[in-house]
Amino acid sequence: MGLALARTMLADGMDVTIAGRSADRLAAARAELARAGHGKVRTVPADISREQDVANLFAQVARVDHVAVTAADASGVYGRTTGITTAAARAIIDIKLLGAWLVGKHAAGRVTGSITYTSGINAYRPNGSNTIVAAANGALASLACGLALELAPVRVNVISPGWVDTPLWNQIGMDKQAAFTDLAGRLPARRIGTPDDVAQAFVSLTRNEYITATVLHVDGGHRLT
Ligand SMILES: NC(=O)c1ccc[n+]([C@@H]2O[C@H](COP(=O)([O-])OP(=O)(O)OC[C@H]3O[C@@H](n4cnc5c(N)ncnc54)[C@H](OP(=O)(O)O)[C@@H]3O)[C@@H](O)[C@H]2O)c1
Repeated sequence: MGLALARTMLADGMDVTIAGRSADRLAAARAELARAGHGKVRTVPADISREQDVANLFAQVARVDHVAVTAADASGVYGRTTGITTAAARAIIDIKLLGAWLVGKHAAGRVTGSITYTSGINAYRPNGSNTIVAAANGALASLACGLALELAPVRVNVISPGWVDTPLWNQIGMDKQAAFTDLAGRLPARRIGTPDDVAQAFVSLTRNEYITATVLHVDGGHRLT
């Protein structure tokens, strides 16, 4: 999703900085994005769960228009609660919730337009096999409300995607194709989401200056199934 958003922003002529833990994956993303548009691409290796990394990321810029957070590592956190290690539960909270908070903390004073976090359908439709991820995702709505007050007039929102076909699914350990076919038939949208569906939603939140402290559901109606 982050890559699709970067591609869209570059095609609109914006300069984009992308961050992630792996220098190799960043280099591959940079090579792909170099062909995407007119803006400049910068890559910064950073682990969102490490305060020093997040601080360094923002220390490199005096001003940034918009920040989007899409980081997640779902390894070891899908399954019944009794089978999840406490270390894995802490790790997902460190990435999704504390990482998001660290971004708010270190973007403060530098970001001028908006911050958008990424939650997920499991916060609104937990299914008994993703409880700790659902809790971390759900907490982002409260984080956004608090930061929307603290950082105003910077706007702080959350996008909650439904199921989107991305590499994240390799970490979940489900039969992806069977799950997608089953869900697509039941969704009001009649298909699984694409990274571009979510990228377009991010862009709309950067543009609409009257949306703040809001969760935007980009889930094809998944909450109604
Ligand atoms: N795909 C879905 O169906 C779905 C549904 C609902 C919600 N979501 C949410 O949507 C967001 C985007 O997911 P996606 O599907 O695009 O996942 P993805 O393809 O696996 O991408 C996740 C990105 O996060 C980076 N990352 C992981 N841990 C990180 C860390 N500690 N610090 C910095 N970067 C980190 C990864 O890069 P490195 O590994 O190189 O760091 C990767 O680029 C996530 O928040 C996810 O929970 C996804």
